[in-house]
Amino acid sequence: MANEIELVTTSLDREVFKIGIQRPDKLNALTLAMYDAMTAAIESAEVDNQVRVIMIHGTENCFTSGNDLSDFAENPPAGEHSPVFRFLRAISQAQKPVIAMVSGSAVGIGTTMLLHCDLVYADETAKFKLPFVNLGLCPEAASSYLLPKLVGYLRASEILLLGETLDVETALELGLVNCTFPAADLSGQVMQKASQLAAQPPASVRLTKSLLKENQARQVAEVMGKEGKLFLQQLARPEAQEAINAFAEKRKADFSQFS
Ligand code: COA
Repeated sequence: MANEIELVTTSLDREVFKIGIQRPDKLNALTLAMYDAMTAAIESAEVDNQVRVIMIHGTENCFTSGNDLSDFAENPPAGEHSPVFRFLRAISQAQKPVIAMVSGSAVGIGTTMLLHCDLVYADETAKFKLPFVNLGLCPEAASSYLLPKLVGYLRASEILLLGETLDVETALELGLVNCTFPAADLSGQVMQKASQLAAQPPASVRLTKSLLKENQARQVAEVMGKEGKLFLQQLARPEAQEAINAFAEKRKADFSQFS
């Protein structure tokens, strides 16, 4: 396997700082080291005067399948300073605009991170899924607060309780993505949007972003902290162990024994 750091690439394209999730053999599942690399990338982009826009992308036909499930078993997050929670704080508190470009699966944190982005573009292959309950876990990234706010309570509970896959048309209708582009044009079209944003007056962009976010910033931080603690509790429970073992063993999880 390649060095962990290479699984997250960074590059500056004009004033757009691209953060690439590049682990296609595991559908870009995120390990602790990858979260650390993404956090460091966001932090460096925030203080680099050459950067006006941050863009997060995956590989062709895959954004990310979410947290690496073997990492959940072998290196579970240990507390609020764990790499995953540091990454979530970094993306939710970034002052520069963050654009996500989604192709293929965006599972778990692959979808919840989008709730913190300022613009989300996808192609027709994009699929979104929040399987926290399916895994015996609970929502993260303040999604229990942000998702019902965005899509309404019934749609949010459907997405979270059933953990079904949403296609891109549904995501568009729900307001999870701004617009879609054909897969062949996605990167060019998103780069065009990113360049358009990078050409806007930067202080005004940052101010407008902070005004858009500040009314909910306190709640987002509070909910994220609360969810994080509960998520860790759930991860240690036998339901989650069964779900994670079932994935590793390529079988359907069986929760019939739990009350
Ligand atoms: N963690 C670790 N490995 C993962 C992974 C994850 N989140 N998602 C996919 N992989 C691995 C698979 O184990 C498989 O590896 P292998 O070839 O060594 O067996 C490879 O990536 C391809 O995945 P596969 O399941 O065969 O692809 P698929 O197209 O049939 O299904 C998904 C795609 C995304 C629906 C499916 O991989 C999945 O459900 N992944 C788990 C998503 C998840 O629960 N994430 C955590 C959310 S909190």
